[in-house]
Amino acid sequence: MKNIVILISGRGSNMQALLSANLNCNIAAVISNKADATGLAFAQARGIPTAVVSHRDHPDRESFDAALAAVIDNFKPDLLILAGFMRILTPGFVAHYQGRLINIHPSLLPAYTGLHTHARALKDGVKIHGCTVHFVTPDLDHGPVIIQAAIPVLTGDTEHTLAARILHEEHRIFPQAVRWLCSGQVELAEDGRVIDHRRNPPGIALISPALD
Ligand code: GRF
Repeated sequence: MKNIVILISGRGSNMQALLSANLNCNIAAVISNKADATGLAFAQARGIPTAVVSHRDHPDRESFDAALAAVIDNFKPDLLILAGFMRILTPGFVAHYQGRLINIHPSLLPAYTGLHTHARALKDGVKIHGCTVHFVTPDLDHGPVIIQAAIPVLTGDTEHTLAARILHEEHRIFPQAVRWLCSGQVELAEDGRVIDHRRNPPGIALISPALD
């Protein structure tokens, strides 16, 4: 059974979705860069080992990432999951976990990389928005996509309503991605593309606004 380690920085609702999903893997640890991350208590209540590596205890990104990797590697992860981990990682850290490091991002990448994705989508007037689970590469929010969920942007949507509906989808697609990766059904190939070994995975069109 594969070992997974989850990194969080705050609320941890995506981590909670993963812990609640009965995944076919061993959740070895939940680690945060913030001691007051509310998600830590949920993991502890489930008997999952937790750790804190504070970025404030380190003078630069390199030393923080080295300390973080040392703690992570104690748990021998086959998969390292960024679930609302709000630190930019150094290329060295990303290279160390190449092919086993994934992230969830609240937009349909490659659109709206970075922060404030919902506000920017609303400002642009897009009719479809969503979320993405992807492999992490040194190019921020640009790694190979594993799964995406698209939702319609509705008249009257605010940043808050949009965030809530997208978060609901995040909680559905993230466990699915981890399930595929843990079972080997989906993997990152040497050429950097995501290989889906399942036969004829279906999909449905989302048209927004809907056709009459
Ligand atoms: C999510 O919207 C995720 O897409 C983004 O950060 C947020 C984390 O939320 N990377 P939570 O801590 O999982 O509740």
